Amino acid sequence: MNWQVIGLRLGSGYDIYHTKGKLLNNNLLSNKNTLFGKFNYQFFNISMITIISSTNRPGSSTLKLAKIYQQKLKEKGVEAGILSLAQLPDNIIVSDLYNKRSPEFEPIQQIVSNTDKFIFLIPEYNGSFPGVLKVFIDACNFPESFYDKKAALVGLSSGKYGNIRGVDHFTGVCHYLHLNIMALKIHIAAINKEFDEDGNLFKSDTIKFVNEQIDKIISF
Ligand SMILES: Cc1cc2nc3c(=O)[nH]c(=O)nc-3n(C[C@H](O)[C@H](O)[C@H](O)COP(=O)(O)O)c2cc1C
Repeated sequence: MNWQVIGLRLGSGYDIYHTKGKLLNNNLLSNKNTLFGKFNYQFFNISMITIISSTNRPGSSTLKLAKIYQQKLKEKGVEAGILSLAQLPDNIIVSDLYNKRSPEFEPIQQIVSNTDKFIFLIPEYNGSFPGVLKVFIDACNFPESFYDKKAALVGLSSGKYGNIRGVDHFTGVCHYLHLNIMALKIHIAAINKEFDEDGNLFKSDTIKFVNEQIDKIISF
């Protein structure tokens, strides 16, 4: 077990300074005297995980599911951030393609560059993944953004097949980018019937597969 000093804990999510390592289920906190005074350092063996909610559609089920994934990771002792594609600059096709970079995209690029493992939640749009997801990938720096990193894929749809095709299409893009895809992919069909009135998953088989996928991405 290799413990690493990750950095000053300023809060949750992206305030943590991350380095590469393996994830553990427990984070250890320890007070340390440093040159700068007494700080609360977080010791953990970590990879930075970012959940990508792969649509910018207002009120999307994908974002709801992203929050559930984030909560389940937290329950397993792992902090993950959510990057919703609704956060992309409105004008991204002008401001951030073909070697252009806007100040609005810079923090997004930083999150992507610092991430070791991605969980892409991908809704089915016209039999594939959303166009905005490909625009996002095209806008990110190559190769630093995804090359030799890891990802888990989740498909969802209002229809019957849970975006099997779109996840396959996106797998092809990931292979091109040398982004290593975890074997266990989840497909959630009829997504509108998956949430209870509090917005939680309630079907036992969905919960079982989501938990299995989360456990696997932690140790991937
Ligand atoms: C542009 C668009 C195309 C869609 N195409 C499909 C489709 O081909 N098959 C399907 O089952 N659902 C389709 N849907 C429905 C989505 O799967 C549904 O909205 C689901 O809730 C997941 O997406 P969301 O995160 O936008 O809510 C489409 C939705 C949109 C907005």
